[in-house]
Amino acid sequence: MSFADDMDFDLENRMVDTEYTSEDRDTEFSLRPHTLGEYIGQEKAKEILKIYIDAAKLRGDCLDHVLLWGPPGLGKTTLAGIIASELGVNFRVTSGPAIEKQGDLAALLTNLAEGDVLFIDEIHRLSRNIEEILYPAMEDHVLDIIIGKGPAARSIRLPLPRFTLIGATTRQGQLTQPLRDRFGIPLKLELYTHEELAEIVERSAEILEIPITKDGAYEIASRSRGTPRIANRFLKRVRDYAQVKGDGEITKNVAKSALDLLDVDELGLDNIDRRMLETIIKFYDGGPVGLETIAATTGEEAITLEDVYEPYLLQIGFLSRTPRGRCVTRLAYEHLGIPYRPQSSSSGAETQLTLD
Ligand code: ADE
Repeated sequence: MSFADDMDFDLENRMVDTEYTSEDRDTEFSLRPHTLGEYIGQEKAKEILKIYIDAAKLRGDCLDHVLLWGPPGLGKTTLAGIIASELGVNFRVTSGPAIEKQGDLAALLTNLAEGDVLFIDEIHRLSRNIEEILYPAMEDHVLDIIIGKGPAARSIRLPLPRFTLIGATTRQGQLTQPLRDRFGIPLKLELYTHEELAEIVERSAEILEIPITKDGAYEIASRSRGTPRIANRFLKRVRDYAQVKGDGEITKNVAKSALDLLDVDELGLDNIDRRMLETIIKFYDGGPVGLETIAATTGEEAITLEDVYEPYLLQIGFLSRTPRGRCVTRLAYEHLGIPYRPQSSSSGAETQLTLD
């Protein structure tokens, strides 16, 4: 039994989940920026994109294929949509798991118009035989299809319109090398700073007509784990709190009380993060401990830990990665109020801490 079962924690319904919830979807469209100018943060990626988009437009050419990678909730789909609208072309959206057969991809490709953007989310989940159709399409703008079976089978080659493929992934390392090599513009999206998130919260509050002070926006931002999707979700929960418990305006104190009530602390950690760190400290002396072991103990999948939780804990310096596994840092001990005991070079098996 994992500690999640043991503690009856609900891993599916975390306030800090980076997956979309149905309520996120309700406002997602209205909050989405539509131009590079409206898009806050990711300055490096925007600067690079602006140059290549302008150059492609000047030449009357297609933009080279773009790979967007980084943790979930940072706005990869939004940015892809902006690229299409800045180029003035259609935006066609699909995802790796949705393309089951070669015919699915062939249908998508043959329906593109010249210059269109085809966006494939979770591109690392494309199967190999589908990737093989994609290579000549990306490189030579042709579709190679096999007609018939056995000795009568023959291959035909159909021309395709020129298009821009934008792939998005949380796991750049899981893409095959040949696929990765075919993206001329690979861009890594970074977690947002508190200042950038505060700007996003203020912009969203204005669109949703929620009164908010600068301090209030900053308080929400600083608890949102560098992730706009979480910041926008918190904004709506704090608005509810402000309407019921206050006069409707989100101030620093209102934001603080509302998020405290949701057990999201001032660094954006929830009970599950805290328990995970405490478990590593209690059972593994703060580490090093392997990802698979943490996964088995916490009841989360190793991939989810690595893609979703770790980037933020690494960014705030609460976890470190070593060749022998993950370690909880002094900063995290201090945050949790646990006396710091650096790991000894001996077995590290005995633990003097008692957290129960
Ligand atoms: N909403 C979500 N992400 C955003 C961003 N990067 N800029 C502006 N608004 C956003």
